[in-house]
Amino acid sequence: MNKPTAPPVCVDLQHVSLRYVSSGREVHALEDVSLSIGQGEFVAVAGPSGCGKTTILKLVAGLLPPTQGRVLIDGHPVSGPQKNVGMAFQNPILLPWRTALQNVLLPLEVVQPHRGQFRSQRRAYEERAHSLLHTVGLDGFADKPPYELSGGMQQRVSLCRALIHEPEILLLDEPFAALDAFTREELWSVLQALWTERRCTVILVTHDLREAVFLATRVHIMSKRPGRLIHETLIDLPRPRALEDTFKPEFVDYVHSIYGRIGQVRA
Ligand SMILES: Nc1ncnc2c1ncn2[C@@H]1O[C@H](COP(=O)(O)OP(=O)(O)OP(=O)(O)O)[C@@H](O)[C@H]1O
Ligand SMILES: [Mg+2]
Repeated sequence: MNKPTAPPVCVDLQHVSLRYVSSGREVHALEDVSLSIGQGEFVAVAGPSGCGKTTILKLVAGLLPPTQGRVLIDGHPVSGPQKNVGMAFQNPILLPWRTALQNVLLPLEVVQPHRGQFRSQRRAYEERAHSLLHTVGLDGFADKPPYELSGGMQQRVSLCRALIHEPEILLLDEPFAALDAFTREELWSVLQALWTERRCTVILVTHDLREAVFLATRVHIMSKRPGRLIHETLIDLPRPRALEDTFKPEFVDYVHSIYGRIGQVRA
């Protein structure tokens, strides 16, 4: 039988190092990070606080240039903020004076080419936003302001906002860390459904190893600062993954083995 061909590389970090300089002090955040992510892969990154996880996302988004090495997207060097990237963070940061729908539409009002055609395409864009809100279980909440939504609902809106311009790459920085365990696990399934439907390339930064194993095709562990990628685990579990699967021995084995690696990093 022929081996399945690997997808084309989407995100490619090549020997990337990053040193921040602030107030005359230098912080060596990343050291020689090389990471190739194929189109449509879902990569999770875990590691100690301050090891450079968010920094990796900023490099991919083009918000920072590397001090050394190269960052490529679809083979092109990243030289500034990227349009084909969507981002969601621990804190959803929705604009309080806008409804859920208006918050979801925001990137289309800012990012070209959508910005130039926002007025003429508004109806189509609103349909797209409603369809996303439906996928994340927010039918009937489009016209609510953020303060009338729970934390989990606000994070769902933030996921929709990250995806509304149909980005090729989705960057998630501990998106569910502030939520209670039940809501968090519910949103794992929501995110899995979004990814299955859209097949964008995802980088998820998380401290939750169960979350990483549930969602990712591959989990990377980083060292303490300066952060290096020190271990990689391919998650070979069938999809779609259900929450009950998290109690199965093969799932627990993955979590346990990655947990052991993190323990070594801490030590
Ligand atoms: N703008 C900046 N100027 C100076 N130092 C910075 C800056 N941003 C981050 N750092 C430092 O770089 C290191 C890596 O930061 P980063 O935010 O990437 O870590 P992290 O792995 O995301 O941590 P956490 O898990 O706590 O979110 C930290 O020591 C941080 O203090
Ligand atoms: Mg961080």
